[in-house]
Parts: sequence; C-alpha cells; structure tokens
Amino acid sequence: MKRILVPVDGSPASMKAALMAIDIAKTYGSKITFFSVVRRPELIGTAISGGIGYAGDLRKVVEGLTDRQRKMLDEFVEGLNCTDVNCTKDILVGEPYEEIISHAKYIEADLIVMGRRGYSKVQRFFLGSVSQRVVSDAPCPVLVVNEDIQSE
Ligand SMILES: Nc1ncnc2c1ncn2[C@@H]1O[C@H](COP(=O)(O)OP(=O)(O)OP(=O)(O)O)[C@@H](O)[C@H]1O
Ligand SMILES: [Mg+2]
Repeated sequence: MKRILVPVDGSPASMKAALMAIDIAKTYGSKITFFSVVRRPELIGTAISGGIGYAGDLRKVVEGLTDRQRKMLDEFVEGLNCTDVNCTKDILVGEPYEEIISHAKYIEADLIVMGRRGYSKVQRFFLGSVSQRVVSDAPCPVLVVNEDIQSE
C-alpha cells in the first residue's frame, strides 16, 4: 500500500474519502496523491461551450476553470491538516474518469479512495458515473466512501 490516489471534486463524499485515505496512509506509511480533474468546457455541456466562438476563448475558459479548481484543491488539502502524511497534489484537464484511471497507472497507485457521489443533482442508481467507471476500469482496488458514513 505504497501509493494512494484520492480523486477530489471538493464534494463532502470526497472529503470523507480523503480522511479515510489519511487513516490508511498513517497505518501503512503510504504516500497520498490528491488529484482533481478539470472537466473540459466541451464536456460540461452547451451552457459554456455554446458561447465560445474560437480557440482563444476556450483556452481562457480552461485557464479560469483550472485556477478555480487549483484553489479548491489547495483549500481542500489545507483543511485536512495532514502534516504527518506524505502528500502531493496534481491537477489535469480532461474527462474525469479517464484521467483518474490513467493517473492511477502513471503513479502506480496501489489503491484509489474516492467518494460514492459528487456534486451532481442527478440521482444515479447507487454510484455516480465517475465512481462507477473508475470502479469498473481501475488498474488497482478502489475504495468507495459514502458521505453519510460515520467516522469514529
Ligand atoms: N472532476 C473530478 N476530479 C477528481 N475526482 C472526481 C471528479 N469528479 C468526481 N470525482 C470523484 O468521484 C466521486 C464520485 O463523484 P461522481 O462524479 O461519480 O458522482 P456525482 O457527481 O454524484 O455524479 P455524476 O458526476 O455522474 O453526475 C467524488 O466523490 C470524487 O471522489
Ligand atoms: Mg460528478
């Protein structure tokens, strides 16, 4: 259990996942990578991409989204207070489940710890679509944490 990947979208479930990953890391002396994927505007839907006329605009939008998400990830990790655990933070732009799976391969993760749900208001059966796809295609075991779970 050397490397743990924790995908973070800032949701309460990803916070629970992060706390559990810290517990595991303390027990096994693992290194944690907190990882957030900036969804490309064309993947977000017509609300943003519909208003974009050329590539320069798209680049600016992606930069803005990346800055915002980096700030979210910084504050998220600061709030965890995990000073006695070896942690790093990574951000990439793309389709979240694809980037999570390829990043797990890239860092040779032994475990992925993620939330059961994110921010979506769409109530999908059982798991959100990102966690569903990661569970089915991940190169390592995946621990899916329900935000309602009580920690000790
Ligand atoms: N963009 C992202 N970057 C990193 N991790 C993510 C991202 N989106 C989701 N996750 C991870 O996946 C977990 C489950 O979120 P998921 O997106 O599957 O559920 P949802 O938002 O309820 O549904 P959906 O996104 O399918 O509408 C989150 O708790 C988080 O750990
Ligand atoms: Mg989501």
